[in-house]
Amino acid sequence: MTSTTSSSPQAVSAAAPAPQSTASSAASTSASMLPSIPDILYGTAWKDTRTTTLVFTAITAGFRGIDTAGQRKHYREELVGQALHQLEEAGVARREEVWLQTKFTSKDGQDLSGPVPYDPRWPVRKQIRHSAFASLRNLHVSDRWDKAELLEAAKQAAGLAQTSGASAANKGKGRSVDYTQSALGRSSANDEGEQHPSGLPDFAKFRPIGAISPDGKTRPWLDSYLLHSPLRSLEETLQAWQEMELLVQEGWVRHIGFSNVYDSRIWNALLQSINIRPLALQNRWHSSSGHDVSLLSTLSPILSPNDSEGHAIHYQPFWTLTGNPALLRSEPVVRAAIAHDWTPAQVVYKFVNQGMGIQGLRCCVLTGTTDEKHMRQAVQVVNNRHGESHLLTVGEVNEIRKQVYGE
Ligand SMILES: NC(=O)c1ccc[n+]([C@@H]2O[C@H](COP(=O)([O-])OP(=O)(O)OC[C@H]3O[C@@H](n4cnc5c(N)ncnc54)[C@H](OP(=O)(O)O)[C@@H]3O)[C@@H](O)[C@H]2O)c1
Repeated sequence: MTSTTSSSPQAVSAAAPAPQSTASSAASTSASMLPSIPDILYGTAWKDTRTTTLVFTAITAGFRGIDTAGQRKHYREELVGQALHQLEEAGVARREEVWLQTKFTSKDGQDLSGPVPYDPRWPVRKQIRHSAFASLRNLHVSDRWDKAELLEAAKQAAGLAQTSGASAANKGKGRSVDYTQSALGRSSANDEGEQHPSGLPDFAKFRPIGAISPDGKTRPWLDSYLLHSPLRSLEETLQAWQEMELLVQEGWVRHIGFSNVYDSRIWNALLQSINIRPLALQNRWHSSSGHDVSLLSTLSPILSPNDSEGHAIHYQPFWTLTGNPALLRSEPVVRAAIAHDWTPAQVVYKFVNQGMGIQGLRCCVLTGTTDEKHMRQAVQVVNNRHGESHLLTVGEVNEIRKQVYGE
């Protein structure tokens, strides 16, 4: 694996195509937000001090979505924020044109000897709220963002009472999520009658995403916020999700989702017990978890019409290339690469982009390449919709699917 990108933000900017900004003023903020998650996200894990330059390069190369996390061990969110600021300054893209996805990482996923965006001794709901506000601050650094409201809300969050209870509103009320055999333990998250104890100030409630304050500043938001992995028990996991649902209701977050859920029993228990359907499931795409064969049908509104309410849950595979070297060398992939004049990596990304030939499956390609040429190749193959030659044929998709999933 090589890391060849050396361009500084300034150098890339000079070579960049004309700015594609659609936002002409702060007043048009809401209207210019991306209506849906892009088909490809740029992953920012393991980039450390190169994060700013690489995010700048990726957006300049055509990415309009970023994946990061409030997990200092692997991600540098604040350097993603720096890159976004530089991209606005350079006229390449405004924040409103970039889908920002970040994650809450529980204490088990943090390096507790380094910076953690919350106090690990706090109850999980307070951790989530703190982590989300830290992410909002990290990712919105310029003066045009309403820091006052963010700081006020963070202060309120810091004063949260013990929040170990479940929220009052729970679609799963009365349903038992009996999960005694799993490591998750038994859920008592369907308790009735408890109020969320955060005591948030009125101004922070139900303000629209990206609202403009009286002094012309824009309220920061996250486009998607993922639970990086299930917590130690189903109860704790559901509490975390309920706090994330509140962040949506309060206008800080547009969509929420899960990551690293591999057991279909856990996944189904979660789906049955939540109010807001997840936008995404971000998982390792690897043979060790059967390439998630047991989960994929639940993500498709066509294959799971009764549960989906018509909404697809976007599958976001990682390790797509690194976890599948044999697939990249396989006959169907190599044959398609020759036929389309693509690299094997482009073929696999296109296969993912076309929903792996699984009815109704919507996928987001995730790539963390550090090579500008690879960035452009990935964006080009995913975003190009002109003509059938830019799609894998049904036969090619079926052959690649068989290679991964068998008959
Ligand atoms: N939720 C989680 O727990 C979790 C875990 C892991 C990752 N992620 C997310 O997923 C993102 C992607 O991570 P990943 O593990 O899939 O690996 P990755 O960072 O995308 O790395 C892919 C590897 O493939 C190479 N590569 C990428 N695009 C290529 C192309 N078009 N042609 C040839 N080679 C290419 C890269 O080398 P070059 O740099 O030389 O191109 C790199 O060595 C991360 O940044 C992170 O955002 C999430």
